[in-house]
Amino acid sequence: MHLAHLRLRDFRNYRRLDLDFQPGFHLLIGDNAQGKSNLLEAIYLLATLRSFRGIPGAQMVRHDQPGYFVGAHVVGREEHDLKLYWSTSKRQISLDDRNIRRISEFLGALRAVVFCTEDLQLVKGSASRRRRFIDLLLSQTDPTYLPLLQRYTKTLRSRNALLKQRSIDESALDSFTQELVTAGNQLMHHRTQLLPRLSPLARLAYRRIALDQEELRLEDHPSVRGDFAVELAQSRHRERALRQTVIGPHRDDVRLLLNNRPAIQFGSEGQKRSIALALKMAQVEYLTGIHGNPPILLIDDVMGELDTKRRAAFLPLLQRAHQTRSQVFLTVTQNQHLIEGPGTVGRWHVNAGSVTSVRIDD
Ligand SMILES: Nc1ncnc2c1ncn2[C@@H]1O[C@H](COP(=O)(O)OP(=O)(O)O)[C@@H](O)[C@H]1O
Ligand SMILES: [Mg+2]
Repeated sequence: MHLAHLRLRDFRNYRRLDLDFQPGFHLLIGDNAQGKSNLLEAIYLLATLRSFRGIPGAQMVRHDQPGYFVGAHVVGREEHDLKLYWSTSKRQISLDDRNIRRISEFLGALRAVVFCTEDLQLVKGSASRRRRFIDLLLSQTDPTYLPLLQRYTKTLRSRNALLKQRSIDESALDSFTQELVTAGNQLMHHRTQLLPRLSPLARLAYRRIALDQEELRLEDHPSVRGDFAVELAQSRHRERALRQTVIGPHRDDVRLLLNNRPAIQFGSEGQKRSIALALKMAQVEYLTGIHGNPPILLIDDVMGELDTKRRAAFLPLLQRAHQTRSQVFLTVTQNQHLIEGPGTVGRWHVNAGSVTSVRIDD
């Protein structure tokens, strides 16, 4: 799969941009604050309908403009036209010029994995970071997952609103409870199925990246240990006191263990960085395994931070992107590879919201 064309209108610091990309390895070269990350953000947005910087739509609209547009032509086994328009009053997504209401229909037309400095938060940050990672991976591989997650989240919100009221409508609470348990059980089922498949991929990736011999393992750390309905009933006093639903998959975590010890407590800085990288590489491997072809890789600013060995761990991924006619977009501040990858097909100079092709002999 590759992104053959990208079109931006009033997105971040891009007024208008129309670019054609070949499959293969693309370097985006430019000083700070020129628009390199913005470009990757636009691609990631089409793939996931979220910003990898975790920010809301309004910030992505070019200053003083009403809305932004991001569009792409994607070529894989099938070809697709993706369009996304966002303004405070109107949001529209379309696939092949057909308006899409369920975002799960849109996801999957373009698959991407981003590597960025924020990834370290997967290790250091709160459980919600790791849940979001797992949720994204499941959304990227199973079209039924996202609607399920949305159903659960909506029910949870209604149930919490009810628990905040002075006098609680018990029959309404009962029906939200039932719905929460039904959706929650399915969510937990998906998550527990994923972890044993993801963990070995992360372990292998970690081995490739890290300078130590320790073994990485991902362990499910569910909020519900046995029967959701029973435990929810048991938490009744606590949830009335705290006025919110205190157990359920919205409280799940994934433990990251190095030689069976929690990396968050015992890992060094370097090990934490390697784990973050390994998780993302495991995401790439998992997606490739499920779909039979690799996702587009968006590598933002991370190469400069890595030593030679960790950088070299990217090589097999780059090689495969090259062989399968997939794509890699890599940002750098100077005109340098930082990595001896397969032949670069595109060198682009990014400067104040404009992107120009750089000739190899420049
Ligand atoms: N909504 C926006 N409208 C206009 N410019 C923006 C907007 N958001 C960010 N920018 C500008 O984009 C630039 C940063 O782009 P970015 O892609 O993060 O840079 P880098 O090339 O360092 O990755 C800054 O100059 C910033 O002011
Ligand atoms: Mg940047």
